[in-house]
Amino acid sequence: MNCLEKRILRDGVVKPNNVLKVDSFLNHQMDVQLLDEIGAEFHKRFADCNITKILTIEASGIAIACSVARCFNVPVVFAKKSKSINIDGDVYVAEVESFTHKCKNQVVISKSFLNKDDRVLIIDDFLANGCALQGLISITESAGASVEGIGIAIEKGFQIGGTIIRNLGYRLESLAIVDEMDAEKGSVRFREQG
Ligand code: G4P
Repeated sequence: MNCLEKRILRDGVVKPNNVLKVDSFLNHQMDVQLLDEIGAEFHKRFADCNITKILTIEASGIAIACSVARCFNVPVVFAKKSKSINIDGDVYVAEVESFTHKCKNQVVISKSFLNKDDRVLIIDDFLANGCALQGLISITESAGASVEGIGIAIEKGFQIGGTIIRNLGYRLESLAIVDEMDAEKGSVRFREQG
């Protein structure tokens, strides 16, 4: 069991409707030492990819992305969520639907910060239905850059996102894959990973 899985068992809280709260260490209060361990692990897994940029989406992806970026010594770019329809031609745009929040957001990245020579590692805290990830992939490809890999802290293996992204052929690594959780018992079952 890795450090993130151990921490989820210790401090994660299973809520009804298959929501896992990790806000005491990952996405509200943040344990920076844990973030650094996560960064080092992604660095190890994608060390062969000549990554030039870490890409994430606001808000909760940013902290993890920064830890990863420090290990690769490359910049982080985060997609901004925007409700604005006045988007000019200087940005790449993708539409992202949130099933959890039942809303649509446009996410944007300035064309100045992503170009065809970039080899991108996409990082995020959660993968559920994969909409955010598909938006980031679409933006990367609009820029002519390549998606070298995708690193997720917590994948909810019983939701569809991981299957969609793997079937599209992307190299997706999730540090903890939750296959089952039970709010009444407070239990979490992780997928065994080699
Ligand atoms: P998707 O991005 O994979 O399609 O998932 P979905 O629309 O279902 O998720 C919407 C938001 O809820 C995402 O954050 C996602 O990270 C988060 N989320 C999904 N499942 C869980 C969960 O079990 N626990 C927690 N804590 N978060 C979950 P977001 O809207 O982009 O918000 P934020 O990054 O600004 O926090």
